[in-house]
Order: sequence, then structure tokens, then C-alpha cells
Amino acid sequence: MLLPPLVWLSAVAAGLLALLLLQKLFFPYFWKDLVFISRLLRYGLRLELYKRRSRVVTVLDRFVQQAARLPSKPFIVYEGKSYTYEDVEERSNRVAHVFQRRGAVRRGDTVALLMSNEPDFVCVWFGVSRLGCSVAFLNTNVRSRSLLHCFGCCGARTLVVGADLLDTLEEILPSLKEDNISVWVVKTECSLPGVETLLDKLQQAPDVPIPAEQRAVTSLRTPNLYIFTSGTTGLPKAAIITHLQSLKAAGGFWAYGGRSDDVIYIPLPLYHSAASLVGIGGTVELGATCVLKKKFSASQFWPDCRRFNVTIFQYIGELCRYLCNQPENEKDHKVHMGVGNGLRPEVWKEFHRRFGEVRLCEIYGSTEGNICFMNHLGKIGAVGRTDFFYKLIFKYDLVKYDKENDEPVHNRSGFCERVSKGETGLLLSKVNEQSPFFGYAGSKQLTEKKLLRDVFVKGDVYFNTGDLMAEDMEGFISFKDRIGDTFRWKGENVATTEVAEALEIVDFIQEANVYGVEVPGREGRAGMAAIIMRPDHSFEGKKLFQHVLNHLPAYSRPLFIRVQETMEMTGTYKQKKFRLVENGFNPLAISEALYFLDYTGKCYVPLTDSVYSSIVSGRLKL
Ligand SMILES: *[C@@H]1O[C@H](CO)[C@@H](O)[C@H](O)[C@H]1NC(C)=O
Ligand SMILES: *[C@@H]1O[C@H](CO)[C@@H](O)[C@H](O)[C@H]1NC(C)=O
Ligand SMILES: *[C@@H]1O[C@H](CO)[C@@H](O)[C@H](O)[C@H]1NC(C)=O
Repeated sequence: MLLPPLVWLSAVAAGLLALLLLQKLFFPYFWKDLVFISRLLRYGLRLELYKRRSRVVTVLDRFVQQAARLPSKPFIVYEGKSYTYEDVEERSNRVAHVFQRRGAVRRGDTVALLMSNEPDFVCVWFGVSRLGCSVAFLNTNVRSRSLLHCFGCCGARTLVVGADLLDTLEEILPSLKEDNISVWVVKTECSLPGVETLLDKLQQAPDVPIPAEQRAVTSLRTPNLYIFTSGTTGLPKAAIITHLQSLKAAGGFWAYGGRSDDVIYIPLPLYHSAASLVGIGGTVELGATCVLKKKFSASQFWPDCRRFNVTIFQYIGELCRYLCNQPENEKDHKVHMGVGNGLRPEVWKEFHRRFGEVRLCEIYGSTEGNICFMNHLGKIGAVGRTDFFYKLIFKYDLVKYDKENDEPVHNRSGFCERVSKGETGLLLSKVNEQSPFFGYAGSKQLTEKKLLRDVFVKGDVYFNTGDLMAEDMEGFISFKDRIGDTFRWKGENVATTEVAEALEIVDFIQEANVYGVEVPGREGRAGMAAIIMRPDHSFEGKKLFQHVLNHLPAYSRPLFIRVQETMEMTGTYKQKKFRLVENGFNPLAISEALYFLDYTGKCYVPLTDSVYSSIVSGRLKL
């Protein structure tokens, strides 16, 4: 017998409903994942087309297109003043003409930039890029010897310095002059000898574009930037950023659903890839507006967001914590998304409670790395999300890691072993045609050090991220710890070898072992050094204080010193850090002498129980 139509219609409806319920129950994120992945694929196809046609539309080309399309749209808002796409287009053309006329730089040269956040950072960056030059971003906290080291690694012959960084320049100017480096300052006049000024020449330079052939790029693999990172070993190095990476990063906001009417708040330093590649690049990609801050200020944040109608902001974990430490709750704003990393779950929840439903999207990825995770669902505590589709695009694995000896575990056949779901392991990312690793400027050896070979089978190659992660049953990925010779503090990477080298110059220190310790309630790790004293010398707190003040940027100065008799070594003669890290800085648990970096007394002072408890309770600011 045939069922009346109404009956079978409702049967079909019930069936569909049941399916939908099943899907909600077992694959709750299916549609959101699908939408997200299809965006990634669309973006990937665009990059694939560039490859086929051998004509890359770079971030700068995108900017030129947007400037032609939206000339009078504000591109950068800085200290209340608005700079349109056309303004930046014209000013960066002028920069290009100044350098071209002077014969100062040629296609293929590298120009180093030592500038704080300001619109001219972008104008100089885009300006010299128009001439087909690569640009190296120098960290403005780094000084003297370390700065010269960074400058040297990227092979630049030209340095452009912001008006507010002349003190830093003065220290290294004699060395630069010895090497015939051409030095420019972003001022109209300057009394330093042998230094060129940029601003006076800009006024006379034409604002017409340099022919596009000058900057034409035929391969995505052409380097266009150098950004300094600590990697996971040794001194800071210049990571080679190719157009492929710049374009991928510029797609970040778009992949998260950003639109051209968004207003993006960038309070992070432009010399890092987050602000420059994701922030500025992402703004250009969308044709949106960004509000650039010289420095982050917790008290100005919400007033700024209201004044400029900010809808998206970039963060690091510390920044969200500072906002949560402010007295007022704030729900009167248009901010709907934050993009960044390093947010701790407690702060994340508190942020929602205080400031409303802002979707916080973590991005995981190192500057030089070939893998990236995105938590597009805004799930608390996760840095990223993986699913069936994602695994087709990105080949990565989590392998067992021996913390004590600081190396991946190898089984009897000499291969690494994958961890099971939920277990913590070292994140390795396969290096292949789709996910190449470009390494560091001027050093094949350093590049090779970041690679692991013969991991699961003979001949395979993986990029070692140096990060311990875990993946849960639902496919959410969370960050657990960082291994090796670096740690993060106040949003900057600290290279322990560099700090140890700086400490070992002090006459009473024979050897230093630098590592990071956890401080309750704080992101990252605070610097600590275990030192061995030279025989017949005594600890001089004032001298050491002066030394670290002069030689190290604030974030890498060790907050704690532990004086040891002997130093433990691993089987391969590396300093052992694991137990020291576990021990932390509690004077009750450590019998050896401990000292604390005291800025008020300008001295390393004994770390007493009361100092310890005021640090742990958060009463003492670090
Ligand atoms: C710098 O330039 C001077 C004069 O042009 C030249 O004699 C000298 O060898 C150069 N030095 C370096 C390190 O290139
Ligand atoms: C912010 O939005 C309001 C209302 O939509 C509008 O009146 C105001 O002009 C906007 N402010 C800016 C700086 O765009
Ligand atoms: C060692 O690990 C590899 C790759 O994970 C695996 O294929 C192999 O079976 C393992 N060998 C032993 C002896 O466990």
C-alpha cells in the first residue's frame, strides 16, 4: 500500500532531523570546519595560480591594487591622524625615488629597518620593496653588539633608522662606518657625522610610481623579508621570509572571516611577523583600515576601540591579561574578534566575562616555520584545530620526547614514535613541495639544525618546531611547552645562549646556564641563570646589575640567579636544564644561594622568602 504523501514527507523530515542531530552530536563542528577549510583552499588555489603563471601578485602588488581601488579610504590611523591608501602609496613612491636617485640601493639588495611603529615604517618598507629590494626588520630593543650581529646576518648595506632611535644608532655608528654601511635617519636634519637624512629629500621627490617591472616577482620562493627570531638554538638569526609566507600570513584575517569594513587594532611591534605580516599584510589583503599603536596601553585600549570603531584586535597573552587587570568592565564596543597567541585559559574566560562575546582566535606558527594552526572556532585553551581535511593539507606529527635528555625518543630501529591522542609530544612538520622550509640567511648550518632527518622512514625530512603539543579526541590542539634553548617572556623570544654569553663576560662568573622558570599567573617563563663562580671571586650584585642593564634588552635579563658548585651535563655535553627548570626559584626548596633582579635597589639582592611570596602573589611587579 502506498503511504499518503503527508506521512512519508514527515518520515523524511524526521529522518533528516535525526541525521542532523547525529551530526550535531558526533561532528558538532562539521559545517564550520568545512566553511573554514574551503576558504583556505580558495586561498591556496590563488597561490597555485601564481605558480603556474610565473607572475606573483605580492602583498605590495595587492597594496597598489587597493590604492587604485580605494584611494581615499583610511589605511593607517596613527595617533589620531588618518593616512589613506593614496597617502601611503604616494609617500612610499617618494621613498623609492629618493633611494633610486641616490643610487643608494639596487634591485636585489637588502635594506635594514630599525624603526618603531609609525606609518613611515610601512612607507619605507613598501618604498624600498618597489625597487625590488628585500627588507630586514631589526628588533628595536636590541642594542650594541647583538644589534651589529643581527645587522650582519642579513647582508644589508643600507640601514634606515627611526628618529626616536638615534641613541641606539650612536652606539653602533662607528662600526657601521668602518664597514661603509650607508645610514639614513627618518628626520629632516641630523648632526651625527656621515648620516643621511630622509625626510627633507622626500619633499622634493616625485610621487609617481616606479615601473612595476622593477619589483616583478616570478616565484613564490623569492625572499622578500628577513625577520629575526631566536629559532630554538643559539643567537638570533634572520629567518628568510619568501613571498609565499608573506601571502599566507596576509590571508589570516580573511580566513577568520575578516572583511573590508573591519577596523584592525595593531598594538604589537611591527618588527615581529604577527604585526607586519598578519596585521599590515592582512589589512592590505582585505582593503581594510588599521589603527597602529606605537606601544600598547591598557588604559587607552577601550577608549581607542570606541573612538575608531575597532572590530578586530591583535594580541599576545600578556596584553589580554593587562586588560583584565584594569578595573572597569567594558561591553560598550564593536570588537568582535581578537587574533593572536599565548592566551591562557583563565585569562580567556575572564576576558569573555569582562568584555563580552569577543571571538578569540589563536594562531600558532613560528616566523620561519612551515606549519600553522588556527583555532577558528575560538575554543578556549586551544591554539588550533585539525580535522580530516586539514591533515590532507598539512603533514605534521607529534612524537614522543625525552625532556630529561632533551631529545626525541628513538625506538630500537632508530625511528621516532608518534604519541597517542591526548598525549604530549614534540611537533614536527614535514618538509615538502607544499610546505617548504626556507631557513635562515647566511647559514646552511643553522638551517640544517632545525631539520630532523630519517624520522619515520629513511630519507624523510621534518621541521622541528621545538614545541610540545597535544591533540585531543575532537581535534583541538593545545600548546604545552617549549623545549631547547629559548623561552618566551613578555612576548619576546629569549635565546638562552645569547644571555649566557653576555653573563660570562662578567669577571666573577665562570659559566652560566640560562633557562626559563614558570611564575604563577604569568605567561611564558621568567629568565633564570645558574652560575658557577670563578675561584677566589665573590658575587657582586651591583656589578652584575649594571652589566645586564647595559648588555641585554629588558625581556632577556635574568630575573633570578642561582649559584651552583658544579653544573650537570647531558651525555652529549650539553648543560642540563630540565631539573633546574623543575626546581624553579623557590628559596624554601633550593639550598643554594639565590638572587633577584631588583630595579629599585639597582642590584641583584638575595631572594628571600618574603620577596618570593610577593612575586608569587603578584604584589611585586616583574
Ligand atoms: C670603504 O670605502 C673606502 C673608500 O671607498 C675603501 O677604501 C675601504 O676599503 C672600504 N671598506 C670596506 C670594509 O669595504
Ligand atoms: C563610528 O561609528 C559611528 C556609528 O556607526 C559613526 O557615527 C562614527 O562616525 C564612526 N567613527 C569613526 C571614527 O569612523
Ligand atoms: C619504530 O618506529 C617506526 C616509526 O614510528 C615504526 O615503523 C617501527 O615499527 C618502530 N620499530 C620498533 C622496533 O618499535
